[in-house]
Amino acid sequence: MTKKIAVLSGDGIGPEIIGEALRLLHAVAEKHALQIETEEALVGGIAYDETGHPLPPETLALCKASDAVLLGAVGGPKWDNVQPASLRPEVGALLPLRKELGLFANLRPVTLFPALADASSLKNELIKDGLDILVVRELTGGIYFGQPKERTSERAVDTCVYTRPEIERIARVGFEAAQKRGKRLCSVDKANVLETSRLWREVVMKIALDYPDVELSHLLVDNCAMQLVKNPSQFDVIVTENMFGDILSDEAAMLTGSLGMLPSASLGATSGTGAKTAFGLYEPIHGSAPDIAGKGVANPLATFLSVALLLRYSLDAEAAAQTIEAAVGKVLESGLRTGDIASPGQRTVGSREMSDAVLQAL
Ligand code: IPM
Ligand code: MG
Repeated sequence: MTKKIAVLSGDGIGPEIIGEALRLLHAVAEKHALQIETEEALVGGIAYDETGHPLPPETLALCKASDAVLLGAVGGPKWDNVQPASLRPEVGALLPLRKELGLFANLRPVTLFPALADASSLKNELIKDGLDILVVRELTGGIYFGQPKERTSERAVDTCVYTRPEIERIARVGFEAAQKRGKRLCSVDKANVLETSRLWREVVMKIALDYPDVELSHLLVDNCAMQLVKNPSQFDVIVTENMFGDILSDEAAMLTGSLGMLPSASLGATSGTGAKTAFGLYEPIHGSAPDIAGKGVANPLATFLSVALLLRYSLDAEAAAQTIEAAVGKVLESGLRTGDIASPGQRTVGSREMSDAVLQAL
């Protein structure tokens, strides 16, 4: 059966990297005899300019009618002062996309390609055995969405709310992911202070009984932030609530030294249920990089790796996913670098040359 993929390229470097990613997707689909169909729609600042809303209803409808969504990036200085602020691309498009599509599980794999080890900000001995962490971030609850949320000139309120079912389902995603990897799950909370965290810890411990093969540990979020830079190789899978996950995933990403390399998957209802595929939204974590937009120099690799995740989680095409990951590794080994991952003095290539090389290496 043909799988439908909604393509939202968005703002800044989004259209350039998504353009390259579509070439890759179609090439891989052909090689692995996958039947796919892609359809593009507007999102972000460009959608705001053209329709008055960063997430037009047609875009949301297309996503809902698809098996997966591939997203470039949204936002840029042009829209930073859009009023009301609820129409800014990040808040007006990204958050409602996550909520409306039920994408509660955000997977951010943090892997270090050996060829890029020098780019890490950590001492070489800390990462000499590589780095392979999966951050599982809860994405549709917590302080991002809790009510009341209000503001006067003198007082502002955000509310952090978690319910037992919300914690249960994300915990299951964490345990299932750990089962497929190193079988260690670290749950991160602030149970010494927050009620939501105390419920979080209680629920995670209860769900753990269903996964006796996974070793569960708990860390307070401040300690976890420290452990990530002190001894990152202790981690296999980290599961945590929305805002802690936002912060820790940026920190973890920086350990690899190359934000431009990291993909992400946001998964919906069937994730964590043992089902073979889940509806998902896939995007590079680096954002719209307005400073280099339109110059053809953006690193397309995080988007390529996001395509790999799309194939793995939403299309059940593991072999195709691995083909992409191997090709990216090979091209990096060969020494090809875009500006963001080059060492000083190294020759750099643009998006097109990088993507030609990956297509060649497939
Ligand atoms: C992320 C981003 C978003 C978030 C912003 C842009 C709303 O930082 O995806 O990590 O906080 O979730
Ligand atoms: Mg973030």
